[in-house]
Amino acid sequence: MTTTLTRWWRDAVIYQVYVRSFADANGDGVGDLPGIRSRLPYLAELGVDALWITPFYTSPMADGGYDVADYRDVDPSFGTLQDAAGLIGDAHRLGLRVIADVVPNHTSDRHPWFQKALGGTDRDRYLFRPGRGADGELPPNDWESVFGGPAWTRVEDGEWYLHLFAKEQPDLNWDNPAVRAEFEEILRFWLDLGVDGFRIDVAHGMVKAEGLPDVGYTPQAKLLGRAELPYFDQDGVHEIHRSWRRLLDSYPGERIGVAEAWAPTEARLAAYVRPDELHQAFNFHYLTSAWDAEELRTVIDESLETADLVGAPTTWVLSNHDVQRHVTRYGGGETGLRRARAAALLMLALPGSAYVYQGEELGLPEVLDLPEELLQDPQRGSGEGRGRDGCRVPLPWSGSEPPFGFGPSELSWLPQPEGWRDLTVAAEAADPASTLSLYRDALRIRRAHPALGDGDLHWTTGPDGTLVFTRGDFACAVNLSGEPVNLGVDGEVLLASGPIQRDGSGFVLPPDTALWWQTGNPSGEAQ
Ligand code: BGC
Repeated sequence: MTTTLTRWWRDAVIYQVYVRSFADANGDGVGDLPGIRSRLPYLAELGVDALWITPFYTSPMADGGYDVADYRDVDPSFGTLQDAAGLIGDAHRLGLRVIADVVPNHTSDRHPWFQKALGGTDRDRYLFRPGRGADGELPPNDWESVFGGPAWTRVEDGEWYLHLFAKEQPDLNWDNPAVRAEFEEILRFWLDLGVDGFRIDVAHGMVKAEGLPDVGYTPQAKLLGRAELPYFDQDGVHEIHRSWRRLLDSYPGERIGVAEAWAPTEARLAAYVRPDELHQAFNFHYLTSAWDAEELRTVIDESLETADLVGAPTTWVLSNHDVQRHVTRYGGGETGLRRARAAALLMLALPGSAYVYQGEELGLPEVLDLPEELLQDPQRGSGEGRGRDGCRVPLPWSGSEPPFGFGPSELSWLPQPEGWRDLTVAAEAADPASTLSLYRDALRIRRAHPALGDGDLHWTTGPDGTLVFTRGDFACAVNLSGEPVNLGVDGEVLLASGPIQRDGSGFVLPPDTALWWQTGNPSGEAQ
């Protein structure tokens, strides 16, 4: 059999499905695999290349599924293994690839390994240590949990165990060969079932500095931080990623590994995507950039340069299940939506691969007023405000009343705002000016246009506060200046994120608007 390498991942648009909130098939108010399966045609029509599904494994849901009790089974609230196999098969028939989420830094405290460890058996699979102080009453070191408070919890016999996240998420000991062997088997299990790759949760966390030294200051880690810490981005993680790459490469069909990694510098982040390591890493520096021309230009240039160092594709992401939705981050209301639409055209015109978080194609904002008693995120109360539930509200599909076609019953695990009646898939699909139509058009053009996707870009000089670049005979301009600008160039409009005008000298771009056009000049000059 000959295999042609497509390197599909170098410019793939990957849609993130947060399983609890995408589509509910059985009416219990929680999204599930059959729900995703029933909506695959929607994703195919949207024009994405792949979906990444957040963890759907057996879990007590202390952290929405990122606390796994059985890595080889599906949580009953999400369906069955058969549903997973059916979903992968259907996706493939529709030309969509499926990326699973693997959580190797920690298990659930209900995982049989941890239960045994509590009983004193094979404790070395986790990081148990005696405490400090006269009676061991103080934690073994000063490490803090990403969710707040000490990263250590004491068990009945007096020892402490490490958990960089919630206390229900004990960290595994990756120095133990049994842990490494177990995860290779877990990866094989899902690869055999047909997944096209893995998003690797906390890919920078599995290896800790020798001797677990104190950090020496507080507060420490944020989920999306840049600090140098003895529990993140240790050199030893790369050996694990290399071995996983060999495993991925031993399967046909270009299966990929995507690092959810945080590193203090661009160069250290690039190390995760060296040719013998993972295929992609999320670009959180792009995600955390403000709506500001200079800042975005800097982060775009740095991202392209660092990816180039190791020959990896750049990736771009605006939102995910851990951060406030970008409509709200960019100012909320009409301004936020206008900017979010422009940001989508910017992101989808950049070289490389892009991630779309479910609901951003509808222009959904963060839900800021969820009732306190319904909040579930373990991160809330950690000084990060109300946590991450506001970006995890179930999707509105159709109809004029909540839960807007999310499932067949009245239930949805978090309530949707009444105002989402105008933001349902059905409402937006019928409106050529909607955000959904913008994403569909953009993805269709991106797929068809030879200059888009993988490659490079050429900046051209635009008015202050604008970003203007060409890629062959394609051009993109974004106006972040706050004032209408005259671009002084003209061409054939491909797509615009809002109404644009023309005067005698060319395009006039209103504030917070992006434009794609055809220059008619394949050499790359905008005029
Ligand atoms: C996931 C979070 C999760 C954390 C712990 C993160 O990277 O994206 O949702 O809380 O890992 O597993």
